[in-house]
Amino acid sequence: MSTPNNTEKTFAEDEIIVSKTDTKGIITYGNELFIKMSGYTEDELLGANHNIIRHPDMPKIVFKLLWDTVQAGKEIFAYVKNMSKDGSYYWVLANVTPSYDLKGNIIGYYSVRRKPSREAINKIDPVYQALINAEKTGGMNESMKLIDATLSSVGMSYEEFALSL
Ligand SMILES: Cc1cc2nc3c(=O)[nH]c(=O)nc-3n(C[C@H](O)[C@H](O)[C@H](O)COP(=O)(O)O)c2cc1C
Repeated sequence: MSTPNNTEKTFAEDEIIVSKTDTKGIITYGNELFIKMSGYTEDELLGANHNIIRHPDMPKIVFKLLWDTVQAGKEIFAYVKNMSKDGSYYWVLANVTPSYDLKGNIIGYYSVRRKPSREAINKIDPVYQALINAEKTGGMNESMKLIDATLSSVGMSYEEFALSL
């Protein structure tokens, strides 16, 4: 894994970053922009675990929520800070959905990402930092408590919160 640095990459508002995974989170497809933003080649990406672009600034609890939600057959919206191969980062607003076969079995997952507003990034960044700190001291139990407390203080579900940013 590369070392993270403070170089930010962005993409245009009318562009979307798309990837697909199998049920285990192994990348099975990435559009051109996904490949470009990641800094990896298509060969390096296909067959790799999607955590290949995981940024260490991302709280574990966000991915737990993501997986719990999509494995339950629901979609999720989440702000994600990703890391390119060269260590630079890019923020996305991801919409991850399950894909089904004709019998209704989940056969994989699909993520469509748009460019988040700067205001949203500025709001979510300190929230994620607080979650990371909670995880350092008390693990995911502690970050879950923090999420619950934060959401109940504003009277919102995680999804409402993410979409209100
Ligand atoms: C369709 C789909 C797209 C995903 N996209 C990303 C992504 O862009 N960045 C990321 O860090 N994790 C993404 N994940 C979550 C990863 O699978 C993984 O859970 C996460 O990187 C944390 O790594 P870990 O589970 O090994 O701790 C995605 C998962 C799915 C199912």
